[in-house]
Amino acid sequence: MWVSIGLIVAVLFVALFLKYVFGTSGPNPFDIDTREPPKPVQLDKKERNKVLKQGFLASRVPQDLDAIVIGSGIGGLSIAVLLAKVGKKVLVLEQHDRAGGCCHTFSEKGFEFDIGIHYIGNLEENGMFCCIVDQLTNGQLQWEPLENPYDRVVLGPPENRRVYPIYSGENRFTQELKKCFPGEEKAIDEFMRLVKKCGHNVWMVVLLKLLPSPVAKFLAYTGLANRLSYFFSYGSRSLAEVVNSLTENKDLRAVLCYIFGTYGNPPKEASFSMHSLLLCHYLPGAWYPKGGASQIAYNMIPIIEKAGGAVLVRASVNRILLNAANEAIGVSVMKGQEEVHVHAPIVISNAGIFNTYQQLLPKEVQMKAAIQKQLSMLKHGEAGLSIFLGLNGTKDELGLKADNYWLFCENNLDELLNGYVTGEREESVKSLPLLFVASPSAKDPTWEQRMPGKSTMTVVSFAPYSWFEEWKDEKVKNRGVDYKELKATIINSVLEVVTQNFPKIKDRIEYMDAGTPITNQHYLAASKGEIYGADHGTSRFTAEVCATIRPQTPIKNLFLTGMYLVSCGFAGAIAGAMVCGSAILNRNLYMDVSVLRKKLKHANSKKVQ
Ligand SMILES: Cc1cc2nc3c(=O)[nH]c(=O)nc-3n(C[C@H](O)[C@H](O)[C@H](O)COP(=O)(O)OP(=O)(O)OC[C@H]3O[C@@H](n4cnc5c(N)ncnc54)[C@H](O)[C@@H]3O)c2cc1C
Ligand SMILES: *[C@@H]1O[C@H](CO)[C@@H](O)[C@H](O)[C@H]1NC(C)=O
Repeated sequence: MWVSIGLIVAVLFVALFLKYVFGTSGPNPFDIDTREPPKPVQLDKKERNKVLKQGFLASRVPQDLDAIVIGSGIGGLSIAVLLAKVGKKVLVLEQHDRAGGCCHTFSEKGFEFDIGIHYIGNLEENGMFCCIVDQLTNGQLQWEPLENPYDRVVLGPPENRRVYPIYSGENRFTQELKKCFPGEEKAIDEFMRLVKKCGHNVWMVVLLKLLPSPVAKFLAYTGLANRLSYFFSYGSRSLAEVVNSLTENKDLRAVLCYIFGTYGNPPKEASFSMHSLLLCHYLPGAWYPKGGASQIAYNMIPIIEKAGGAVLVRASVNRILLNAANEAIGVSVMKGQEEVHVHAPIVISNAGIFNTYQQLLPKEVQMKAAIQKQLSMLKHGEAGLSIFLGLNGTKDELGLKADNYWLFCENNLDELLNGYVTGEREESVKSLPLLFVASPSAKDPTWEQRMPGKSTMTVVSFAPYSWFEEWKDEKVKNRGVDYKELKATIINSVLEVVTQNFPKIKDRIEYMDAGTPITNQHYLAASKGEIYGADHGTSRFTAEVCATIRPQTPIKNLFLTGMYLVSCGFAGAIAGAMVCGSAILNRNLYMDVSVLRKKLKHANSKKVQ
């Protein structure tokens, strides 16, 4: 009897699996290739602002909305475009005064800075991700490759500085590492073998979010998911544990771990699978959007508008409206002291899980066991510092290139970071352990045309939210003398290190300012100043967590999109939108893209003949 029950369960399971993996019940946003020949990059800021800065007015809200999206980050815009492509009328509401979230830009003293887009991987032509991005932007966003090497890891103090270049290309990456670390060939090969095994297995995370919840939970809680995917079996192992077992060489250990800065957890806390995902992301290369990060939202908003939707800014959603049965029916937007209510059958939140559950839902609903369970599974991620420098001089004059520097003052990354965050604030900020340094202007081929004779440099680092929390309620740009002093200390310590590495910028600094965790809180609505949303440590990448944090929420008609679902990053937030779109449209959008991609490849090869 058990055998037959087992068989029935297996058949049911396969049937459900097929239905959800190949399910095609809703309309398909990837049905046709919507790319158009790229128009010239919009260089006029005023023209871009007409699209990016449309303020919220009740009169601008379209009638008969199909969905409301809270937040205009890439995760919010992507789900809005996916729905617009199947004819849905979507309203995107953004609390800041411009659209884009981490992809927004700001200008000061004639310099334009972007926030959260330094380099994006996996954009190789005909690749799956490139196909998704092309369709989301109707082929209007153009990408400029970075130099190869695209990253440089710099270890040690000025008098004993070691520089390790990081190259893209699967073979090149390892070959060049081996050149830097003779005798470590075996460790490097084994590291790459594990990285590829885990990184290429990320589909399992996506699958757990696409499958019906009971099936996903069955796979997770029986341990089947772990057996089926290296991503999970290595997800809960720390990066330090894996790397330390491969080599004793301290510099090599640091070089294999440096890219943790793109998701936030130092090696002892980092998930080996998350790390693998990032390394695999950049293996095919690294790119930057031509014209800067504001081009992203600028090229997506018209697609939403064409379907009758709108993207409105200065629209802070203060709560999600629920009916008597606790189902989402719309949102409330604060307009001065008044609430404006906007209704739609679906509400999608790009605001992150903490904001959405803890700020936008009534207390008694927050207490629901299913919501508390999800909240207990995630932690707030690392908070961040950004330093913006405006420079007098062209990239050639200043020796700036389209690449990134990762500067660490020592090679023992875990102790370094731990000493920093547990130290006394005033002392710690005098020497930041890790600096990411890049020149966005040098990456953008349109820059010389837009801002001739000038350059920019951006530095990113981490800092605990608690160091800045005391000023969070002070008025932005006027938070008092102590806050200003702390910022000045940070800027000075950053400048000291940066000018050692880029001596030509020394007397050329025309503008400088620093953003802190409370700056992120203000402009990005990052709940605790996070750079990358929820923590990406080992506890997040278990099958149980991946099966539980889904686009569907315990509240009917309320969905999640963006970086809290799959992972952070431009690509991670788009993956969040893809699983969200799959849930809403009741079809597997990844299957749809791969069908389209095959069609295009086929058409291309015919053209060539
Ligand atoms: C300094 C920095 C550097 C980075 N560098 C890179 C990089 O080089 N490459 C890369 O791939 N990724 C990078 N990232 C990460 C990447 O930018 C993000 O992970 C990704 O863009 C997140 O997209 P999202 O849509 O999920 O969230 P967000 O972009 O954060 O969007 C959320 C939006 O919701 C809005 N919102 C929140 N609450 C409300 C509310 N109540 N009402 C209305 N609106 C609300 C916010 O204002 C925000 O605009 C970087 C991030 C930072 C901060
Ligand atoms: C920029 O540098 C040039 C010299 O290279 C100088 O003539 C000019 O005044 C500088 N501009 C500013 C705004 O400092």
